[in-house]
Amino acid sequence: KLPENITIIEVGPRDGLQNEKNFVPTETKKEFILRLKDSGIREMELTSFVSPKWVPQMQDAGDIVESCLTSGSRDFVLAPNERGLQRVYETDCRAVAVFVGVSNTFNQKNINKTTEDALTGLEPLVTQLKDRGYFVRACISTAFYCPYEGKIAPEDTLALCNRFADMGVDELSVADTVGRANPLEAHALFTLLKSELPGLLLTAHFHDTRKMALANILASMQAGVDRFDSSAGGLGGCPFAPGATGNVATEDVVFMAEEMGVKTGIDLEKLSQAIDVVKPFISRPVESGYYRLYELN
Ligand code: HMG
Ligand code: MG
Repeated sequence: KLPENITIIEVGPRDGLQNEKNFVPTETKKEFILRLKDSGIREMELTSFVSPKWVPQMQDAGDIVESCLTSGSRDFVLAPNERGLQRVYETDCRAVAVFVGVSNTFNQKNINKTTEDALTGLEPLVTQLKDRGYFVRACISTAFYCPYEGKIAPEDTLALCNRFADMGVDELSVADTVGRANPLEAHALFTLLKSELPGLLLTAHFHDTRKMALANILASMQAGVDRFDSSAGGLGGCPFAPGATGNVATEDVVFMAEEMGVKTGIDLEKLSQAIDVVKPFISRPVESGYYRLYELN
């Protein structure tokens, strides 16, 4: 059984661009974001308040947030620490994404902290955000596999999800950071998380390194998931997950879902036009199935 509707959380402006070596002009990012919204996207990660030394592409985060927040849309920014939250509080943004991996080694590479130190640091920050009425999303990296540690046990992923549930987050975005999971693993983990964490919004975040993301999304839908992170044009990758390619392409997810009668509310033509805006600045080809055909026509 499939859901009637799914919600796409567009992560292109954040996950999609953070790994691009050449700086994408701020005005281009803004037009990309506004066109994505115009295509029907209602939830989006706009940018990250992370260290500009670690992720130079996100150095214009304050400017992006100031220009791109709109009513009727849930606009997230990522924040890794207290400094990131201070930057959030200087804006009108009301939705924050925090992030930690299940794998200790990944956390050391990505945020220079062990898993436990990261959680200890985030706990008071999440409490403060909730006290102030923010929507909080926790992104759980390396939920299936780690590029350094290999296979991750589902119980370890569940344990980390439970820590965030106890902190009172609104949403968990559970990620196959390196695009290594298969559909049976996706179905099993999301079935487990759905049954153990019934009160939380549960979102699946698949990278498409091995071209299994669409199959994983279908399997996750069958496990009851109706929220999916994806990136227009399939852009993206984490600078600290070597070998991982982009997120599953939003247009491919929308096409698959709509063909199966699952509504997304997203206009594929307008979505493709949003990709047209950013494509000249992207260093690798945009190779999603849907967009390739769009370009031919
Ligand atoms: P650190 O070097 O250990 O931090 O980095 P620090 O506290 O020692 O600070 C060093 C300097 O950075 C200081 O400046 C701080 O002020 C500054 P200095 O005194 O040297 O001039 N700084 C900041 N500046 C702006 N904003 C901030 C901030 N924090 C410190 N928030 C840190 C630790 C966490 C900051 C760093 O490791 C970092 O920024 N990491 C982020 C990495 C990242 O963005 N990764 C990608 C996002 S996660 C992802 O893609 C996975 C996901 O898609 C799901 C999946 O697919 O798995 C979500
Ligand atoms: Mg990601």
